[in-house]
Amino acid sequence: MLKEKHQKEIDDIISRYPVRRSALLPLLYLAQREDGYVTEAAMKEIAQILKLTPPQVYETITFYTMLNLKPVGKFHIQVCKSLMCALVGSDQLIGWFHSKLGIKPGETTPDKLFTLSVVECLGACGTGPMMQINEDYYERLTEQKVDQILSDLKNTGACPLKSGPFMWPEPSGAKK
Ligand code: FES
Repeated sequence: MLKEKHQKEIDDIISRYPVRRSALLPLLYLAQREDGYVTEAAMKEIAQILKLTPPQVYETITFYTMLNLKPVGKFHIQVCKSLMCALVGSDQLIGWFHSKLGIKPGETTPDKLFTLSVVECLGACGTGPMMQINEDYYERLTEQKVDQILSDLKNTGACPLKSGPFMWPEPSGAKK
């Protein structure tokens, strides 16, 4: 139960908002941090905490791609498929992931390391094709970069090619 483990954090989150239901997204994020996805039990508990109905909670989760309704791999790859990224090759990139990992969007590798998703614009339209893996952005992607990212994540759990959240103007030392 979330309340048993995180009562103080839940109270802190709710106290930030004048309207109780406004705490929905942060609480869902907390639930996802706990289990890697939002479980049915967490959905019901959050609905009860915020005095919402479970369908109100469910419809919010299904609207936002950063919230998962089922378990994802250790590294959740989210490739942007919106127009600007599509124009510079996001489809080919998704095909590249398929050839490298043997998975299509919505699937997880058998070793539970990688889940592939396609998502709408992540706000880094000028540096596509791009993707987010867990909390990190990777931009101006090429097949070679993807190979390095997959290999680094598999071997060390981290990759120096990450650019972090989108920043504009770009830091002067940003890699091209
Ligand atoms: S279109 Fe891909 S980040 Fe905006």
